[in-house]
Amino acid sequence: SFTKILIKEGTVVNAHHKEVADVYIEDGVIVSVRPNIKVGDDVKILDATGKYVMPGGIDPHTHLEMEFMGTVTIDDFFTGQAAALAGGTTMHIDFVIPVNGSLSAGFESYKNKAKKAVMDYGFHMAIIKWDEEVAKEMELMVKENGINSFKFFMAYKGSLMVNDELLMQGLEKCKSLGALAMVHAENGDGVAEGQKRMIDLGITGPEGHALSRPPVLEGEATARAIHLASFVNTPLYVVHVMSINAMEEIAKARKAGQRVIGEPVVSGLVLDDSWLWDPDFTTAAKYVMSPPIRKAGHDKALQSALSTGILQLVGTDHCTFNSTQKAFGFDDFRKIPNGVNGIEERMHLIWDTMVVSGQISVTDYVRITSTECARIFNIYPRKGAILEGSDADIIILNPNASFKVTAASHHSKSDTNVYDGRTGKGKVEVTISGGRVVWEDGMLNVMPGSGKYIRMAPYGYLFDGIEKADAAYLASLRAPVQRTKAAA
Ligand code: URP
Ligand code: ZN
Ligand code: ZN
Ligand code: ZN
Repeated sequence: SFTKILIKEGTVVNAHHKEVADVYIEDGVIVSVRPNIKVGDDVKILDATGKYVMPGGIDPHTHLEMEFMGTVTIDDFFTGQAAALAGGTTMHIDFVIPVNGSLSAGFESYKNKAKKAVMDYGFHMAIIKWDEEVAKEMELMVKENGINSFKFFMAYKGSLMVNDELLMQGLEKCKSLGALAMVHAENGDGVAEGQKRMIDLGITGPEGHALSRPPVLEGEATARAIHLASFVNTPLYVVHVMSINAMEEIAKARKAGQRVIGEPVVSGLVLDDSWLWDPDFTTAAKYVMSPPIRKAGHDKALQSALSTGILQLVGTDHCTFNSTQKAFGFDDFRKIPNGVNGIEERMHLIWDTMVVSGQISVTDYVRITSTECARIFNIYPRKGAILEGSDADIIILNPNASFKVTAASHHSKSDTNVYDGRTGKGKVEVTISGGRVVWEDGMLNVMPGSGKYIRMAPYGYLFDGIEKADAAYLASLRAPVQRTKAAA
């Protein structure tokens, strides 16, 4: 296939600027961005007149081939990434789960799963227990393996959940390594009580999932994580912000100057929980994820928070199970594997929901789907930009075409899709990944093994100035207090 590509006359969009220009690509890298580039006839020409040329999407939150709740997510690094490319996403960051408590074993296992990668990817690492070995391995992950973020689960009691002591130690360790701490914020003890309450009431169906872990438990854990991160003075990234409650805690902390990042996911932005009451189990169960999809109103509030900058970037939490796997919980919602799809739909649904509706600009769209993720995880401007020297991960979106999501036509291996039947304006017509056209005319042309592991360095921009603030704090503590001796 072509190693030289010229994209002609499109509106080239970056997070802070857009202009009509040509983009010339050679050997996987963007060589030139300017009007009227002349090339020879060994170059593939793509006409983008009237279309947007944008950085490929970066999904900060996915779970491909993950062992979870007694089963394994059905999309692997081939099917999940193929789906991503068909929807205009050219990179994702997946969560490595330790194997038998070992971070290194987890890392090796995920590198192995990713051998069939068809696009670039990076890793976060989940921390699910604490000892000296884990602390040492975190250092190894950052210094040797290119990981700069660690996720702590405040829920999933009895499996992944960490208590506050572990969370505190983890925050301290992250800070010392210049790594970003991420939290799944739900009060896990509260959830366990809520689940018991539902079972006692005889509510065993999917609606019990939503009822057992209401927004108040998400808001509480979000606030707690924020307060502990403030105490440690380290940046915090809250994954899958699903409720007004959690969003408001983030808004408050950011207003006070704290470095907190809030990541809403597509399901929380465009769905509501009414599906969980559907009488058909298969239909209801496909919407079970944690934190739960909330009542109508939370979705619109999260959209608004995204448009005003209270929340900064959009993920998917792509974590797919087919209906057979979801049916493990037919008699008991606690056994329904948690997770929904989205890696293929994110770019279209966010375009339609946020840009077509007039809530954000085209440049903001690029920021929340790509650039901000690249900046946070310290891979900008290699990723997240159309600049000379950036990787050639690019999409061409036609604002006048439309998209339709169906489970029958999607590229995920799952037999269901939570966005089944959705239509909207805007269509990703071309995806370029690593300088190759991988999606064009509705056809995928991917190459297993072509995806590269992207190493992410510590001390991203969120750490700017933290040392100075700490030094000032310590100096203030050490200033001697002048006391007079008590009179005899
Ligand atoms: O339901 C969800 N979100 N499944 C994936 C695991 C997680 O908590 O992110
Ligand atoms: Zn989570
Ligand atoms: Zn508070
Ligand atoms: Zn997740």
